[in-house]
Amino acid sequence: MTEDGKSRVALVTGASKGLGRALSGELASRGVKVVMVARGRAELELAAAEVRERGGPAPVPLVYDVGDKAAIHPLAGLAADLAGDVDILVHNASDLGPVPMPLLMDLDCEDLSRVFEVNVVGPFRLTKAVGGSMALRKRGTILFVSSDAAVNAYPGWGAYSSSKAAADHLAKVFAAELEIHGVRVLSVDPTDMDTEMHRRALPDSDPASLARPETIAKAFVKILEDPERARTGSRVSAGDWVSS
Ligand SMILES: NC(=O)c1ccc[n+]([C@@H]2O[C@H](COP(=O)([O-])OP(=O)(O)OC[C@H]3O[C@@H](n4cnc5c(N)ncnc54)[C@H](OP(=O)(O)O)[C@@H]3O)[C@@H](O)[C@H]2O)c1
Repeated sequence: MTEDGKSRVALVTGASKGLGRALSGELASRGVKVVMVARGRAELELAAAEVRERGGPAPVPLVYDVGDKAAIHPLAGLAADLAGDVDILVHNASDLGPVPMPLLMDLDCEDLSRVFEVNVVGPFRLTKAVGGSMALRKRGTILFVSSDAAVNAYPGWGAYSSSKAAADHLAKVFAAELEIHGVRVLSVDPTDMDTEMHRRALPDSDPASLARPETIAKAFVKILEDPERARTGSRVSAGDWVSS
């Protein structure tokens, strides 16, 4: 709840699996109405049903591709119509690019473009579409889900990691521009998690060595709720918030 007694509204992209699904459940169980976005309808509806079972306001599943330019304004408009003004925007959906992940010298330009459309340009467009109302209301938090690949150079991870580095910097500049309007923007490195994305990228990893997305989702909620420690413009590691 906000100070004026209204339910908060979150829009989480990539909400049908992994971290986005776990975070949607965690937010809903705290009374947040969650607009859950992904491309695959069947999995998204299953995820929304699971979130509904946790109690709290009923989630709103919306089937959209964040890498599709034409989708962004309809998505933002429908989210506001069905759930209300968005207070929390989480750019969580992400594209790895071709798998197995090729070296940059072997990567097609079209594949690089698609990764940037989903991981950078889509979040840029959606921030513009949602952030204006946050600025007018002088309230809102925007999280860009990052990766350690944004700051480390791993052979084969070039498209994904350069897009995450660009998204981190986009978050920093949005933060600098929106701070006077009361909107907080930060990027969060979730750490390695046992999810479908991780299995696609590194199928030989031992799942026991990876964090559970449900654990990291709880850390994300702490980050969302602590603007003093997780300051606007910062890049935060969710792992530091797991037991704090
Ligand atoms: N897993 C890790 O170890 C790890 C490590 C560092 C960072 N991260 C980051 O954490 C975030 C969550 O990753 P995850 O591992 O939870 O992924 P995941 O389990 O693969 O789930 C990805 C979600 O995004 C959706 N999605 C993918 N492309 C989309 C698009 N173009 N438009 C809308 N939705 C889309 C997927 O559903 P559809 O396919 O049906 O659209 C799914 O709901 C990502 O930003 C990822 O880069 C993950």
